[in-house]
Amino acid sequence: MGDKVDLSSLVVRKGAGEKLTMITAYDYPFARLVDEAGIDLILVGDSVGNVVLGYPDTLPVTMDEMLHHTRAVSRGVSRGLVIGDMPFMSYNVTVPEAIINAGRFVKEAGADLIKLEGGEAVVDTVAAIVRAGIPVCGHLGLTPQTATQLGGYRVQGRTAAVAQKILADALRLEEAGISALVLECVPDRVAERITASVRIPTFGIGAGPACDGQVLVLHDLLGLGGGGFQPRFVKRFGEVGEAVRTAVSAYRDEVVAGTFPASEHTFTMADDEFEKL
Ligand code: KIV
Repeated sequence: MGDKVDLSSLVVRKGAGEKLTMITAYDYPFARLVDEAGIDLILVGDSVGNVVLGYPDTLPVTMDEMLHHTRAVSRGVSRGLVIGDMPFMSYNVTVPEAIINAGRFVKEAGADLIKLEGGEAVVDTVAAIVRAGIPVCGHLGLTPQTATQLGGYRVQGRTAAVAQKILADALRLEEAGISALVLECVPDRVAERITASVRIPTFGIGAGPACDGQVLVLHDLLGLGGGGFQPRFVKRFGEVGEAVRTAVSAYRDEVVAGTFPASEHTFTMADDEFEKL
């Protein structure tokens, strides 16, 4: 494993035209695997709600749940930067409460950065968290925590007016001190324009190839989802769900047939000790 990724090096790597990588993880074993694969930023997304905890969306996810999963991921990561995703209503009420909750990700769960969703409405909150010494990743475009206000889970910025607003929000967030920006479900040319307009690296998810880096939900790219709707921007790089089904069925079949455990999986006892028993 190489040295820990240096947050300040991301801007330099953007400048050098090097592509950056971000992926979600929610537990220790997957955190270890993605870290060993050399991923730069490991996002403990609030997508844990629908991906792992079985909620219908991200809205019910609590601070305690996020801290629990972020702790597990931090224990598995030594090279990548860990991002703790602030859940809905953990940063939307007051700025002091947002700073306290952001601080909990760092102090109690080992996160290197926090992420929160939104533009203009969260600029003061972002500035205050950064002033408190906590690096922040922004999130614009389709922001799932406010998807209802956006008219559902749909591409954002297809009109010039909305694209202009997303660009203006990106610039304001950069001014407030964000270190990275996730762009979710925006047209490729809009993401390209934003990427060229900010110094900090952008990470696209459904935002085309011109972003400085890409981010995907781990379970989506592994083919480990529930088999429901798969967004157009997801590419399945593996079929781990199928591999799990095959392995577990084989285990069940062998137990039922009495062929597992075999002698090589079994502990023995010396005859003289067994006699005494
Ligand atoms: O929660 C999450 O996984 C995210 C990604 C989709 C960027 O915010």
